[in-house]
Amino acid sequence: MTPVTVVEATGVVMRFGGVTAVDGASMKLRRHELRCLIGPNGAGKSTFFKCLSGQLTPTEGEILLNGESTAGLQVHEVSRRGVGVKTQVPNLMNGLSVHENLWLSARSVGTRTRAEVSARVDALIEQLGLGPHVWTPAGALAHGQRQIVELGVVLAPDPWLVLLDEPAGGLTRDEVDRMAELVKDLTATATVVVVEHDMSFVSAIAQTVTAFHQGKILAQGTAAEVLADEQVRDVYLGKQHGVHK
Ligand SMILES: Nc1ncnc2c1ncn2[C@@H]1O[C@H](COP(=O)(O)OP(=O)(O)OP(=O)(O)O)[C@@H](O)[C@H]1O
Ligand SMILES: [Mg+2]
Repeated sequence: MTPVTVVEATGVVMRFGGVTAVDGASMKLRRHELRCLIGPNGAGKSTFFKCLSGQLTPTEGEILLNGESTAGLQVHEVSRRGVGVKTQVPNLMNGLSVHENLWLSARSVGTRTRAEVSARVDALIEQLGLGPHVWTPAGALAHGQRQIVELGVVLAPDPWLVLLDEPAGGLTRDEVDRMAELVKDLTATATVVVVEHDMSFVSAIAQTVTAFHQGKILAQGTAAEVLADEQVRDVYLGKQHGVHK
């Protein structure tokens, strides 16, 4: 069976005044694919990500989600089409408990009954292992727990496309492993795009990888192919590991 393309970005350009942050990026994502976006600081990963989520409107190019253009849509309209986004900006209400945060997000799907909202929250608590923390105020959580609750808030409406910007940022080694497991499991129900610097995390989760450099796509393929690519190693891995030419 031919894989179904659910995300198709064509010739995406994003300029901020004189800065071209994304310079003609195209990619197709298959249903249930897990794609990592890598590249050095300033490569354009987050900008491209924000074009997918509707936070930014590309200067040029087109983005189709399930065959429909997102041109002219506000970010909440993209979200209502089933796109869940975790940016690096915190999305929790600090004064509310973990349960309340998940509840509010699960309830944002207007068609759900109270029982369905409850069932969704209970399922997430189970899936993410949040049992011991349900009544903790979000503001009192340790960073690692908080990241998992933030993931829960993104997942509560059951998005078919999940966009995560640096979900492993600031996590301990054990927490990175746990996050990797959770993110891999998402592909059972969703297509997932992850922007990440942590290469051990990328190697652990990625099926396919796109490497950005100066707003352009430098390489695209399986994790093994892209991580072994000479150019990718030069611009990214080399720098990251302090290898200078
Ligand atoms: N709102 C903005 N206004 C002006 N320039 C911007 C804006 N957002 C991003 N840029 C510029 O666009 C380029 C790409 O930035 P972007 O944040 O997409 O990079 P990135 O690959 O996500 O980097 P990092 O790994 O550091 O998060 C950078 O030169 C950045 O300074
Ligand atoms: Mg970024």
